[in-house]
Amino acid sequence: MGNVLVEHPLSKTNGSAPVSDDGCAIVVENVNAWYGRKQVLFNVDMQIKKNEIMAFIGPSGCGKTTLLRCFNRMNDIIKSFRLTGTIKIGDEDITSKNTDVLALRKKVGMVFQQPNPFPMSIFNNLRLPLAENFPDLEKAKIEDIIVQKLKDANIYTEIKDRLHHSALRISGGQQQRLCIARMLTIDPQILLFDEPCASLDPLSTKKIEDLLLQLKEKYTVVIVTHNIEQARRIADNVAFFYTGKLVEMGPAKKLFLAPETEMLERYLSGKF
Ligand SMILES: Nc1ncnc2c1ncn2[C@@H]1O[C@H](COP(=O)(O)OP(=O)(O)OP(=O)(O)O)[C@@H](O)[C@H]1O
Ligand SMILES: [Mg+2]
Repeated sequence: MGNVLVEHPLSKTNGSAPVSDDGCAIVVENVNAWYGRKQVLFNVDMQIKKNEIMAFIGPSGCGKTTLLRCFNRMNDIIKSFRLTGTIKIGDEDITSKNTDVLALRKKVGMVFQQPNPFPMSIFNNLRLPLAENFPDLEKAKIEDIIVQKLKDANIYTEIKDRLHHSALRISGGQQQRLCIARMLTIDPQILLFDEPCASLDPLSTKKIEDLLLQLKEKYTVVIVTHNIEQARRIADNVAFFYTGKLVEMGPAKKLFLAPETEMLERYLSGKF
């Protein structure tokens, strides 16, 4: 794990995740959620500490993505979606109608299952969000930040000679790390990953896992994964969901070694 993360040159937050009085990056209280009349999350309570990797696991359709997308209000774009309860990031309840959603999404970045680089050069993939979010930046400063963010995402040495080539012509694993670099340009504090390795080979997966372990030094990381071994390898804490309920949550070591519920035990042994 080569690079040491450096502070974003524009950072006003000194790089650490927003912290509420109790030292948590995210506090979820009594969250219920619906798509139309169908309830998909039930009374979820959860605390995610800053600078940890929290992994959401559980069978398909149990609400992992739905909860993850609540953290940056991505579900707002779904008309039928409704939520009750509170989600605090720092001291703000981000479910409030007064929340500045654009500002929230800068604070809480997201990477998806399929890498989604913009159809332009590697360099411009990072230049675009930088220019949009920090319009007063000088050209030389922009270039410095781009190089630094590519280094922070452990991809710079692999693509440094191809910065002005199309981002669509690098491998899937490299594209995913490029998307992570792009997310880092807007100086987020919490990073959300929805099955980021689902389309990747084992070596690319390992590179992303190493990167996540490195990123948690500076950011708070929440990852959804179907890969139990991945959660075992990188997560500090794990939340196990089943049919919209948070069934069990705790330190990864304890949860995997001695699950308290039969349901988690069955899930871990591949019985459903
Ligand atoms: N846009 C939507 N409109 C209606 N229902 C939805 C929508 N998105 C998800 N759902 C439903 O909400 C429930 C939870 O879905 P969600 O995507 O959160 O599960 P998940 O645990 O992430 O599943 P997977 O592991 O397959 O990604 C499922 O029953 C799903 O069918
Ligand atoms: Mg999902």
